[in-house]
Amino acid sequence: MRVVDLRSDTVTLPTAEMLDAMRSAPLGDDAYGEDPTVNSLEELAAKKMGKEAALLTTSGTQANLVSILSQTKRGEEVILEMYAHAYCYEAGALSAFGGLIPRLVKAQRGIITPGDIAASLRPVNLHFPPTSLVCIENTHNLAGGTVWTLAQTKAVCDFAHERGLRVHLDGARIFNAAIALNMDVAQLTREADSMMFCLSKGLSAPIGSLAVGGREFVDTARRYRMMLGGGMRQAGVIAAAGIVAIERMVDRLRDDHANAKLLGKGLSSIEGIIIDPEVETNIVVCDVSGLGVSGEEWVKKLGESGVKIGALDGSKVRMVTHRGIEEDDIHYTISVAEQTAKALRHHHGPF
Ligand SMILES: Cc1ncc(COP(=O)(O)O)c(C=O)c1O
Repeated sequence: MRVVDLRSDTVTLPTAEMLDAMRSAPLGDDAYGEDPTVNSLEELAAKKMGKEAALLTTSGTQANLVSILSQTKRGEEVILEMYAHAYCYEAGALSAFGGLIPRLVKAQRGIITPGDIAASLRPVNLHFPPTSLVCIENTHNLAGGTVWTLAQTKAVCDFAHERGLRVHLDGARIFNAAIALNMDVAQLTREADSMMFCLSKGLSAPIGSLAVGGREFVDTARRYRMMLGGGMRQAGVIAAAGIVAIERMVDRLRDDHANAKLLGKGLSSIEGIIIDPEVETNIVVCDVSGLGVSGEEWVKKLGESGVKIGALDGSKVRMVTHRGIEEDDIHYTISVAEQTAKALRHHHGPF
């Protein structure tokens, strides 16, 4: 059976160029700072993001965690959007390991405003946990790959800084945002005190993310990475693929965005499916309640025809385009969705 895997851009496999680079990378013990390939990747990442230094981590979750731990103390409060990955999908690490209290903000398209922060801040009072950090996410995964513009980022960062708060940017897919906005990625990261991005998603590397920021921040993050068991040895084999990812795989994200838009357009013409929000990058979120099924049921039905997608809350489902998806796969997915919707209408009668 034909399989179209739209569950995530993390299913991408390394390119032949990455595998070659991994095989021939100069290596050393990174715990001694002696892996030249890791050092090159960290320098490259810092330069790309316009920051002083960077740290290779095992995953995006670890990069977020070391970034958050490095800028907070136990008992403090962290402001996050209520569907932030760091809150919803990272196993509660910030509370479990950081002793931190999430202060959640519900925001349209996942984009927090200065007003949201103002409303979450509490007066200085013996009874309240002090707030120290704001986490933002660009692109916002669960909201549907939505993009924070430069103005939106700057507004939140400026406001947070005026109030003495630091800002961490979860930029797992920050290159998707930069491509969508047609701008240099460093502009989008400039205002944040720290940021992280993933090599292992649309950029197709097999493993790895980077925590990026000032030198002092990265020194602290390196200690936390060690505590979390993320200190690696000849990690150049990972870093080698990461360098290829940054240098060669960014521009092609345009193709993923075009495919996602095509998918969104095709699905929106099916009665009972609502695309929400508009497709901006490589993530398509739609609501299938108009078909009389739950998200889980819709996922199962498409799976029977080899189209793999993911369920979100209730009646929403998520599809993610990536290097393994061609335009033809999008046409196939749309036709499977049309037929499945037709069969449901036949079964349930008109809604
Ligand atoms: C926005 C966002 N942040 C962080 C992560 C975590 O990355 P990882 O899966 O490498 O831990 C993800 C992964 O999907 C993500 O989408």
